[in-house]
Amino acid sequence: MSKILITGGAGFIGSTLADKLIEEGNQVVIVDDLSMGDVENLPKSMNVTFHEESITNHFFMTKLLITNNFDYIYLLAAVASVADSIERPIETHAVNQNANLNILETIRKEKLTPKKIVFSSSAAVYGNGPELPKKETSSIDPMSPYAIDKFATERFMVDYGKLYGLPTVCTRFFNVYGPKQNPKSPYSGVLSIVSDCLVRDDIFTLFGDGSQTRDYVYIDDVVDALLILATTPEAKNDVYNVATGETISLVDVIKAYESASGRKVKVVKKEARLGDVQDSLADITKLRGLGYEPKVNVTAGLAKYWDALQEK
Ligand code: NAD
Ligand code: UD1
Repeated sequence: MSKILITGGAGFIGSTLADKLIEEGNQVVIVDDLSMGDVENLPKSMNVTFHEESITNHFFMTKLLITNNFDYIYLLAAVASVADSIERPIETHAVNQNANLNILETIRKEKLTPKKIVFSSSAAVYGNGPELPKKETSSIDPMSPYAIDKFATERFMVDYGKLYGLPTVCTRFFNVYGPKQNPKSPYSGVLSIVSDCLVRDDIFTLFGDGSQTRDYVYIDDVVDALLILATTPEAKNDVYNVATGETISLVDVIKAYESASGRKVKVVKKEARLGDVQDSLADITKLRGLGYEPKVNVTAGLAKYWDALQEK
């Protein structure tokens, strides 16, 4: 049994990861300020401890880290929206970068001994560079405060490994989707918003012409990737794409969702969002080298997602 910290563990990816870690018999501590997360997402288990707290509360985080000396730390808390970071660059910087740096500093100064610190970075760091698919060595061009903070924090993670010997690893998630993704903010992941529109028969606002492409990766594959990266010792002080290696346009993914659900999405078009990336696709060779293989393609993933929404 390992003692594991998940920041942002009441959110979409964090809570699904927590389900899996609890199922495997671990003890999980979650810190989440519930700005986007929901206590309803948390696994119902004696082995989960939940703190409704912001990771920007450095005093609280420092004490928590020292008291527990966790075996594994997953840093998933973030203001996860590109658009929101453009509206509120200072506030999002405090969460997306400074709070994580404080966690690293505490681990270093207090000589804590986690087996792995996994930081959730993003495909957003690649920006609009022409090279596709994106390899981890492709050029970096962060186009929003969100992407800048993710890239800078990645560098802190990698270099805290090299300078001070901390075992860190970073995930560049592409577009993750699936049950528990919160559709309630205008900045929520697009497939959670489409789901909500399908369920409620609401109008979906499509920004741009719908030709923008994304590598949509199903949540179960993302949880697999997180576990592989945490438990593989050679995945250290490095960065890995987490995706499927397949791409689809927004118009086509909406069509695929219409087929999976048997419903129609009502669409209204608006101007493209500021800072929006046009095309995104991952090369996942590096992660495959650690034994990762995505199991859920977009057609199967949307069907699973729709089934889960029906059960709810
Ligand atoms: P999410 O919004 O569901 O989860 C993030 C969680 O962090 C939420 O529960 C939120 O309440 C919490 N949080 C926000 N600010 C906090 C703070 N100050 N203190 C404590 N908790 C705070 O998003 P997600 O999709 O689960 O994303 C998890 C991580 O993965 C994030 O770091 C995000 O940037 C990254 N990521 C996600 C995607 C994606 O497609 N979903 C893609 C790339 C990267
Ligand atoms: C998403 C993630 C981000 C991550 C990045 C990595 C979310 C909220 N954002 O950003 O954390 O770093 O992937 O690739 O999960 N759109 C609409 N209508 C809407 C909402 C979105 O047309 O109501 C469009 C957007 O303009 C964009 C596309 O859909 O072109 C995808 O948007 P979104 O789901 O927000 O994802 P990213 O911006 O790619």
